Amino acid sequence: MTDTLSAAIDVVPISAPSAPGFGAEIRGVDLRTLSDAAFAAIERSWIDHQVLLFRGQTLTDRELTAFSRRLGELDHAPIQENGQRFVDGMPEIYVVSNVIENGVPIGSLGAGEAVWHTDMSYLPAPPKASMLYALEVPPAGGDTSFCDMYAAYESLPDALRRRATGLRVKHDGTYNSGGYVRQGVTPTDDPRQAPGMLHPLVCTHPESGRRMLYLGRRRMAWIEGLDLPQSDALLDEIWSHATRPDFTWTHRWRVGDLVLWDNRCTMHRRDPFDAATRRIMHRTQVKGVAPPAS
Ligand code: SIN
Repeated sequence: MTDTLSAAIDVVPISAPSAPGFGAEIRGVDLRTLSDAAFAAIERSWIDHQVLLFRGQTLTDRELTAFSRRLGELDHAPIQENGQRFVDGMPEIYVVSNVIENGVPIGSLGAGEAVWHTDMSYLPAPPKASMLYALEVPPAGGDTSFCDMYAAYESLPDALRRRATGLRVKHDGTYNSGGYVRQGVTPTDDPRQAPGMLHPLVCTHPESGRRMLYLGRRRMAWIEGLDLPQSDALLDEIWSHATRPDFTWTHRWRVGDLVLWDNRCTMHRRDPFDAATRRIMHRTQVKGVAPPAS
């Protein structure tokens, strides 16, 4: 089904089996030259559908950051695993890539799996939006999946929902989603001692008003007040529910695709791909304005 908004953008819902309306493709727009009305329609669709796909874009880094800034102030990207910034003079651009030039990786996360996560949830106010723009894609693999955290919450069995409500989770800042230790962090095996933030396990979206699970990432997570085995058992139960395939859709990338997601009510993961092939994505993130709240 296609519904056409007044600003003449076409919104084509994608949907996951148990998450109707989760994800949409926006057709007929050039992100370099959006009118205010078209941008407003896109912003509304982003709140409604959580993840938006735009195909066929041709953006320089400046155009990518200019579009990103229309959603709010941009975060500086985390420092690369080798301690370097990614793009000279553009600290907002995070390069996700396996490509090595002159012996130096040009980006982060390599060619392995990136596990389910919410971007930078270890911060007091994590980014509200993230976007990923495809510059080079491998012939196979490297697909990115998105998971609807409203649907995950709304379908929780009653007993599990009651147990989850009111709890807080430690969001670890030691490892990135590729499993690499972040710059400047000394790893510990105890999530209670690790750097990071406590956020409510069940949060309310500040714009849609809907409730969602807020999990961050599984590795080194801990539920405040529980001993580690109890915390792990409850987290495992919640995670296996939240990442059910029927709450997710998977994007197969083409060069020129831009995917914009609401980082507050989704998680994402990436499939591994052949390290001998090339994948280059540029990512920006829009600052969160408030901590996640119940
Ligand atoms: C990310 O986790 O931000 C990167 C996802 C991807 O490489 O598709």
